[in-house]
Amino acid sequence: MPRLFFALWPDETTRNALAEAAASLRLRDGRAVRPENLHLTLQFLGQVDEAAAKALCADPPRPAVAPFELQLGDAGWWRGSRVAWLAPLDTPPALERLAAGLGEALAARGFAIETQPFRAHVTVARQCRRAPRVTGGVDVRWKIAEFALVSSVTDPAGARYRVLETWPLQAPANGPSGR
Ligand code: 2AM
Repeated sequence: MPRLFFALWPDETTRNALAEAAASLRLRDGRAVRPENLHLTLQFLGQVDEAAAKALCADPPRPAVAPFELQLGDAGWWRGSRVAWLAPLDTPPALERLAAGLGEALAARGFAIETQPFRAHVTVARQCRRAPRVTGGVDVRWKIAEFALVSSVTDPAGARYRVLETWPLQAPANGPSGR
C-alpha cells in the first residue's frame, strides 16, 4: 500500500530555484533531497488502500482558494527531526486555507490526518545531525496554481515520489473575481 500525501509540486523552473536555494545551505552532513523529489506537503495521509486512493483521485477535496504566490525567504534546520528546510517567513493565508481546507475535508471522510499545526516547509535534506553551515535568507518565488496527490514508496535508495493527479486552484465562487 503506498503512502499518500497532498502537496505543492514545483514546475521545472521552480524546482531549479528550490535546488539552488537548497545548495546554498552548504550541509555539513545528512542526505540532500534529490531535486525531482522537492515539494511542500499540505496534508500527509499515510498508507491508503487502492480503493480509497482511486476515490480520492476521482473526487478530491477542492478547497476554494485562488492561485497565489508563495515566497520562501527562510532556510533552516530542525534538530529534533534532523531536517533542513526552506520556508516562508510569513505563511500566506491562502496556503493556510489550502492546507486547513484539505485537512477538514479529509477528516470528514474519515482519514486520520496530522493534528500538529501546519508548518509550511520544503524539506531539502534529511538525517542532518548538525546544523547546515548557512541558514537564513533565501528568495524563491513560487506561483501556486495547483495542488497534487502524490504517492511515496520507500526503497533502499530513499523515497520515490509519483504525482498521481493534480488539480487547479479555484477561487471561491463569491470571491472578488466572481462578483
Ligand atoms: P517532511 O518533509 O517534513 O519529512 C512525504 O513523506 C512527505 O510527507 C514529506 O514531505 C513529509 O514531511 C510529509 N509528512 C508529514 N507527516 C509525515 C509523517 N507522519 N510521516 C512521513 N511523512 C510525513
